[in-house]
Amino acid sequence: LTATWDIAAAEKGGFPHFMLKEIFEQPAALQNTVSPRVKDGHIDLAIPLTESQLAGFKQIHIVACGTAMHAGIVGKYLIEKLARTPVNVDVASEFRYRDPILDKDDLVVIISQSGETADTLAAMRLAKQRGAHTLAVVNVVGSSIAREADSVLYTWAGPEIAVASTKAYTVQLSIMYLLAFKLAACKGTIDAAQEADYVAQLCAIPQLLEKVLETSSRYEELAKQYMHAEDMFFIGRGLDYALSQEGSLKLKEISYIHSEAYAAGELKHGTISLITDDMPVIALGTQQRLLEKMVSNIKEVKARGANVLFICYEGYEGADEFADNVIYLPLSSDIFAPLASIIPLQLFAYYISSLKGCDVDKPRNLAKSVTVE
Ligand code: G6P
Repeated sequence: LTATWDIAAAEKGGFPHFMLKEIFEQPAALQNTVSPRVKDGHIDLAIPLTESQLAGFKQIHIVACGTAMHAGIVGKYLIEKLARTPVNVDVASEFRYRDPILDKDDLVVIISQSGETADTLAAMRLAKQRGAHTLAVVNVVGSSIAREADSVLYTWAGPEIAVASTKAYTVQLSIMYLLAFKLAACKGTIDAAQEADYVAQLCAIPQLLEKVLETSSRYEELAKQYMHAEDMFFIGRGLDYALSQEGSLKLKEISYIHSEAYAAGELKHGTISLITDDMPVIALGTQQRLLEKMVSNIKEVKARGANVLFICYEGYEGADEFADNVIYLPLSSDIFAPLASIIPLQLFAYYISSLKGCDVDKPRNLAKSVTVE
């Protein structure tokens, strides 16, 4: 096996931590992952599956651990919305022990940055044994999962050194978009013009990410305000809920602040009892379709004393009336919002960890790749 990554890429390149460097590498990583698979407005995944095979899957299972599993949750939203194929998302360590219902008409998508996570690898072997087609989304070329899967889609993030995953997540998301568009095009739930339009929007995302990254100093200021909190909540609906889960994990991993992600509409069924004076609530409202409902959930927590940091789109007026801090993201359509809104969540966690003096790149008790079950 030969390594295809160079030594220079494994250095910090002037950034204080690998994590910050990797956050800033996201526009390029996304472009490297998407552009080789796009030709004249169409997607060519270059995997050994025909268009009719792709259209024929009755059910899709996405199986992964940690951050990769969070990318899978976004994938479920996208595939179900666009291709109308039912998708289950499972944590690998649960999937493999619950005797999952699988057959040869199922597609099992395995997502893993390292390609070596023991539970993920075992889940993939189980899916293969049961006759499902296994499609691996992997960052490390030649890794165990990449070698054993029936099909592989590499994410081209380059080496990710920081234990907390950032750019690998974003490129996993980009593959979820490509897969959703491709499945939808093969099934005819979108037409060629819609496919070309989605592809063009995806190809424009790296510039949008550059714009968000230009505002990185803002997150250091916000981190100073919130770094002393002992608990935080992340809330959102739909794709924003999926992103909330990743934002909460990032914060926990590297800053050791307890946090929970909640579906905003579910808060009132118990969790809202924990909202007291000054409790930080990071609220995502990037889905214009769900904005009104989200705003009423924010007002509910605000009425109980929460300190709300609201992430929404520029052009949305009135956020200052109910939020303590507002982050305005450059406007894109609802389905592409996760690609922009992950950056504020990563930078927020990063600066809190760094200001607290935590070991940002090597947080306690965690490993980059977990090869034990
Ligand atoms: C470890 C890492 C996480 C990662 C997870 C899955 O727990 O600390 O950042 O998301 O493993 O890793 P994989 O390499 O399979 O994506």
